[in-house]
Amino acid sequence: MSARRTYGGIAAAVVFLCAGAWAVAQKADAPAAAASAPASASASASTPVAMATGAAAPAASTDPVLEHGRYLARAGDCVSCHTAPGKPAFGGGLPMKTPFGTIVSTNITPDTEAGIGAYTEAEFARALREGVARDGHRLYPAMPYPSFARVNDEDMHALFVFFRNGVQPVAQKPPATDLPWPFSMRSLMIGWNWIYLDKGVYQSDSARSAEWNRGAYLVQGLGHCGDCHTPRSMLGGVKAANDRKGDAFLSGAVIDGWYAQPLRHTDRPTMAQWPAEEIVQYLQTGRTSHTAAFGAMVDVVQNSTQHLSTQDLQAVSAYLKSLGATEGAPAAASPASLVAAAPKHPVALALRNGTVEGNSGAMVYLNNCNACHRSDGTGADKTFPALAGNSVVNAKDPTSLIRLVLAGSAMPATSKAPSPIAMPDFGWRLSDADVASVLSFARSSWGNRGEAVTADQVAKVRDTVKPAKNP
Ligand code: HEC
Ligand code: HEC
Ligand code: HEC
Repeated sequence: MSARRTYGGIAAAVVFLCAGAWAVAQKADAPAAAASAPASASASASTPVAMATGAAAPAASTDPVLEHGRYLARAGDCVSCHTAPGKPAFGGGLPMKTPFGTIVSTNITPDTEAGIGAYTEAEFARALREGVARDGHRLYPAMPYPSFARVNDEDMHALFVFFRNGVQPVAQKPPATDLPWPFSMRSLMIGWNWIYLDKGVYQSDSARSAEWNRGAYLVQGLGHCGDCHTPRSMLGGVKAANDRKGDAFLSGAVIDGWYAQPLRHTDRPTMAQWPAEEIVQYLQTGRTSHTAAFGAMVDVVQNSTQHLSTQDLQAVSAYLKSLGATEGAPAAASPASLVAAAPKHPVALALRNGTVEGNSGAMVYLNNCNACHRSDGTGADKTFPALAGNSVVNAKDPTSLIRLVLAGSAMPATSKAPSPIAMPDFGWRLSDADVASVLSFARSSWGNRGEAVTADQVAKVRDTVKPAKNP
């Protein structure tokens, strides 16, 4: 994909555009790299990164500010990007592949030579909020500083104290990032920041409750949920950085070959309709009775959200449930109501009676999926997700669905739900046409209302999962 390099020779405006395009790929791949361990061995439960989280938590100190900083570091999921597989926490060195070259995360331990031990608190805050390193060079937006800009002074201080006194110094300097020109020109980020970096810490909305504001602060700030869940413009910035910037905020985006579902109300079943307890449960365990996390969200749950307090997760849930909620408008049928109605659905009866001849999608389902997801598409509590009313199955973008069936997936292993139950991969036994027909079937059965999936769409996704799979 070095073809992108050729853009570099053209006019400055184009170079700038490239930088934007680069940012898209960069950001798309950053979490991919973080998630690469579980992706390549989908059934393995504890990823190196997950273990690193444990390693990052030696004996708790007695300093409440430091402990608060440790908590915030988890909310910001610093460990996922700043730790290489099998290496000490926060030592950096995680290679993040992009079509423009490989970017390597830096060492953020307090080592003065290799890490950020020489950073003053002001320099640390500037790196997190403005994307400027100690020596003045611009950071690539693979570091989510446009989100971290929202972090308030008190929390910034606690983070600094944690990274100064609560983290084991690591003396090793990771290899430097060396992107080909023009992407090597970090000064391009000045222009990018001018368009996309909104300075200023989170401002409370006085018309809303304290809980709502707490949720907004976590989601827009340290949680950087929009980095994956908000679509991006051509120049690589998110289309909306918060709820005031428009309905694109958290409206769903493809990241690392998975579709990160909308985290707001839309015209389809979404998580915003789940009961609050289910949202909290999902963020704590990576699963609910009807769904389970996969893709980049596995790492997010394992390394970040499972460690947040129930109160904070309730705040996150309250905030997300408010997004896109229009008073008086008829809501999409709720996932729960579809699950409840599924056993009586004609499709369920046909599958149970085996009267599905001529329906190729139903045949593929019966032979490959029925054992776990059941004829009524309700799966099994906390083990096999329900396909009825499922936001993934009904999603506008079928990327995740196709990829799940081709490549399989394993749920996150968390302290509250330790066993990583897996979905097998079917790419080796089902043709593109088979996958298209079984997914079209699932998207139109048990009350679901997703569009049909075509063999072409499957072929495109198959191309992207191929290299990851050993024959
Ligand atoms: C999505 C991935 C990602 C997350 C999450 C992330 N970072 Fe980073 N961070 C990076 C990358 C990549 C770089 C290097 C960017 C570059 O070289 O341009 C970086 C650079 C930095 C730097 C500059 C260090 C230096 O001198 O080079 C600091 C400080 C930093 N991150 C702190 C944090 C903290 C604190 C958190 C958690 C609150 C965090 N990061 C979360 C990816 C991430
Ligand atoms: C590194 C990328 C990434 C980040 C950061 C991220 N997510 Fe996700 N998230 C995903 C992907 C990919 C999915 C789709 C997989 C799935 O549904 O299990 C997802 C799914 C979800 C779901 C399930 C939605 C559904 O309809 O099933 C919830 C809830 C969720 N994320 C909440 C959050 C919250 C809250 C944050 C911020 C604290 C966040 N995510 C940050 C990538 C991310
Ligand atoms: C051996 C049991 C098993 C079989 C057979 C199976 N699945 Fe799954 N499926 C799972 C498990 C477990 C998950 C959760 C995986 C995860 O979250 O990582 C899952 C997840 C899914 C999801 C995502 C739902 C969500 O909310 O996360 C879809 C869609 C899906 N399967 C469809 C299918 C289709 C279509 C087939 C047949 C081609 C199939 N499954 C066969 C066990 C199975």
